[in-house]
Amino acid sequence: MTCKVAILVSGTGTNMEALIDAMSDPEFGAEPVLVLSNNPDAVALSKAHRKNVPTSVIDHRNFRHDRRSFDRKMNEALVEANADIVCLAGFMRILGEEFVRNWENRVLNIHPSLLPDYKGLDTHRRAILDGREQAGCTVHLVTVELDAGPIAGQTAVPILPGDTPDSLAARVAKAEHRLYPTVLKEFIRAQQRSS
Ligand code: GRF
Repeated sequence: MTCKVAILVSGTGTNMEALIDAMSDPEFGAEPVLVLSNNPDAVALSKAHRKNVPTSVIDHRNFRHDRRSFDRKMNEALVEANADIVCLAGFMRILGEEFVRNWENRVLNIHPSLLPDYKGLDTHRRAILDGREQAGCTVHLVTVELDAGPIAGQTAVPILPGDTPDSLAARVAKAEHRLYPTVLKEFIRAQQRSS
């Protein structure tokens, strides 16, 4: 059975594109049913339009003092789209406990570091400043604790002499675009085997 995937975005959506492109292969076994953004200006939205994937916006600024209502709106949109799995792809909001528990084991995120190192933001600058030789990216299951869920896949890339956060980010991004679809495909297969 084809797995229905929703993708949550806030920004440029290059990982979203990689996921949508990978799912266009019938062998993948999944279809993108919704791209959902908290940011009405996200470039990802126009990219999704061009790829004929339905989009929706739930602007977090309308829920400033009520995060739970924001999460509930997100939940409603995902349920309405019949999503089986949710992929966070540069989604810059923290999802609350109720949401995470509702979707337990069904939400993946991609993070630009070799977790458990460098949780949070500004990962590339921190890795360079620490004199690390390697950086990378991680796909993990989303749990209540930020960037701390079980790791589903990782790719390491070298940090080269003279690297800036931007040059490193570009190298890591290429790895992200290969890793995320690969892990999603395997994750779906594993879920289908266990159901
Ligand atoms: C990526 O670096 C991803 O690891 C992080 O946010 C960034 C999203 O980039 N979670 P894009 O929107 O997919 O281009």
